[in-house]
Amino acid sequence: MRAVACTLLVLGLLCDNVSGEVTINSLRVAAEAWDGELPCRTWDCECVFKHQRGCCCASRELQEVKDQMLVRVMDLSRSVAQLGGSLLEFLGGMRVAFTASMSFTTNCFGPFTRNSSIPFDVVTLNHGRGYNPTLGIFTAPRSGLYSFSFSVYSKVGGEGTRIYYKMQLMKNGEVVASTWEDNRDDSEDSSTQTLLLPLQQGGQVYVELLSGRQLCGNVKGLNTFAGSLIHPTLA
Ligand SMILES: *[C@@H]1O[C@H](CO)[C@@H](O)[C@H](O)[C@H]1NC(C)=O
Repeated sequence: MRAVACTLLVLGLLCDNVSGEVTINSLRVAAEAWDGELPCRTWDCECVFKHQRGCCCASRELQEVKDQMLVRVMDLSRSVAQLGGSLLEFLGGMRVAFTASMSFTTNCFGPFTRNSSIPFDVVTLNHGRGYNPTLGIFTAPRSGLYSFSFSVYSKVGGEGTRIYYKMQLMKNGEVVASTWEDNRDDSEDSSTQTLLLPLQQGGQVYVELLSGRQLCGNVKGLNTFAGSLIHPTLA
C-alpha cells in the first residue's frame, strides 16, 4: 500500500520521511515539513501541499491524464475487438471434417484398367469444404494433423464367385494404407482402415480402387470415407 501510494504520487523522496500508514494527510504533513524542493516534476505540488487546500492545482495535468486514459481505453477496446475477430477466424478454420459414402448401386464399381480414385458421392458432412465428391479427393484447407478412415464392402453373387478388391489410401500420390480381399470361400467381405496423417495446406488424400479389381453390391453406408482435422500446425 505504502509503495503504491508513493509511486502513484511521484513522491519518492517524501515517502522516505513518512512512517506508518500512508495517507494523503500524512503525505501533506511530510510535504509541509520538507524544506527542499518538492520532487514533483510537472506536478505543481508546492501549490497542492503548501499553499492551497483546494483541488485545482493539478487540473491541467489531470485533464491530460484523463485524455491519455481515454486514448488508452479506446486502443484497448480496438485490440479486444481485433482479438475477438482473430479468435473467430481461428475457430472457423478449426472446423475441417467430412464424411462421404458411395451411393447405392446394383452394378459393380470397376474393374478399370488403371488405379482409380473412388468418388464417394453421398456427402453428409463437409466442414471447411475440403472434400470434392466428384473426384473423391480431400484437399487440406490448412496444415495440420488429420485423421482419416475408410471402409470397404463388397458382395459378389453366389459362393465360388471371387471377391477381388484392393483399396489404398493415397497421400499426394503415395500409398499410405490399404485393405484387400481375394477369395472364393465367402461371397461378401468388409474391412476398415483408420490412420493419422500430417498434411501441409493443399495436400491431397483419396482412396483408390486398384486396376482390375471391383466393388460390388454396395449398400448404403458400407463404403465410406471420412476425415477431420485433429489440430492445426504452422507448416
Ligand atoms: C496402382 O497401385 C499399385 C499398388 O500400389 C502400384 O503397384 C501400381 O504401380 C499402381 N499403378 C499405377 C498406374 O500407378
